[in-house]
Amino acid sequence: MIRLDKILGHTGWGSRKQIKELCRGGAVTVDGTVVRDSAVKVDPEAQVIAVHGNSVAYAEHYYLMLNKPAGVVSATEDRISPTVIGLLPQQYQGASLFPVGRLDKDTTGLLLLTNDGVWAHRITAPKKHIDKRYEAVVDGPIPADIDSRFRRGIILDDGLECLPAQAAVTGPQRLSIIVQEGKFHQVKRMCAAVGLTVTALRRCSIGNLQLDSALAPGAFRPLTVGEREMPFSK
Ligand code: URA
Repeated sequence: MIRLDKILGHTGWGSRKQIKELCRGGAVTVDGTVVRDSAVKVDPEAQVIAVHGNSVAYAEHYYLMLNKPAGVVSATEDRISPTVIGLLPQQYQGASLFPVGRLDKDTTGLLLLTNDGVWAHRITAPKKHIDKRYEAVVDGPIPADIDSRFRRGIILDDGLECLPAQAAVTGPQRLSIIVQEGKFHQVKRMCAAVGLTVTALRRCSIGNLQLDSALAPGAFRPLTVGEREMPFSK
């Protein structure tokens, strides 16, 4: 059983005070009955909660796939730039969602958002060896031995050693790159280490989970229960 104001806060209906007022005003029903006390405990799995007649879809944890557009930062808040969390509708604003790892402001593509810290850690921890695949457009001559250099482990400009990665040439100035970790600007810096400048970068998949091609830049959708396990399979 969970307090009604907690459920409504989590699903974006405002601050505790605003929710108290919503309830007092008779806007909130539980199983069709008006509930004026926002502190009552309800069972969100068994009972139907509604605000102004709109049913409230409560879940403790959310798992979303976003097609990150360029120009937004992978953060929960930022003083200057719009954030990926800001792209979500009100219903997700009270649920403490955060991005699973970071994509640079100019990087596009698959970004997962959740409020499940354990699940996020399983994806981001380098020891879990989850493949993150990127498509990169590069400037400069692509070295013939780029894949073997990536597989041996690139050493970055500051001496940091990368885990073995992969690079396949997919077109003129285009690479498909797989890394298993998420160091700061990792793909761009790995490319720089072999003489290439990345001019566009897009993440396409994490493990077996691919970006849904129906999602326009900036659009998101919840993962299905099956998709939640796909980052962990190859
Ligand atoms: N590597 C980068 O350089 N940038 C990203 O956004 C992701 C991986």
